[in-house]
Amino acid sequence: MTREEALFLLKKHVKTDRVLRHSLAVEAAMMAYARKFGEDEHEWGLLGLLHDIDFEAYPDEHPHHAPELLKDTDLDDDFIQSILSHGSHSSIPRDTKQRQCLHAVDEMASFIIAVALMRPTRLEGLKAKSVKKKMKTKTFAKAVDREELVASIEPLGIEFAEHVDIIVKGLMEHEAKIQKEGYSLLG
Ligand SMILES: [Fe+2]
Ligand SMILES: [Fe+2]
Repeated sequence: MTREEALFLLKKHVKTDRVLRHSLAVEAAMMAYARKFGEDEHEWGLLGLLHDIDFEAYPDEHPHHAPELLKDTDLDDDFIQSILSHGSHSSIPRDTKQRQCLHAVDEMASFIIAVALMRPTRLEGLKAKSVKKKMKTKTFAKAVDREELVASIEPLGIEFAEHVDIIVKGLMEHEAKIQKEGYSLLG
């Protein structure tokens, strides 16, 4: 599946800017981690882009309907299982680097963007310190589980500050690229 095909399919099922932007942000973060670990950037990017494809149609059952929305594609079973593994009560183990990364960047990518939107320079120069500060501010993005943000990084063996750096860099690179296509991670 090409990225264009994936984006086309995603937009068939995702109509809000919020979910579309989140998908693009997780795509960016997954590509950054694929580079970091020497993995397949294209595949990891597609996983980020498509992981919430059933979220709008089935908010309460997400991600369990992703397989049916992706059934006419050439995505393999492992890819589909990786999508299923990111659900909060998933019975699919997060037993690969790819699944651990998806879990670790899912909420964090959007949290970082929320932090960036409060800064005049946006993502430029955004460091872990600012992210930590906002994590301590309970009223900021209060739906995000702070403990989970931290716990999800553990299986990767990456420090919090590096995690933030990898994602920020990935988001900035992706932002420059997708702006040319008429999208933005930053609204
Ligand atoms: Fe999700
Ligand atoms: Fe997500």
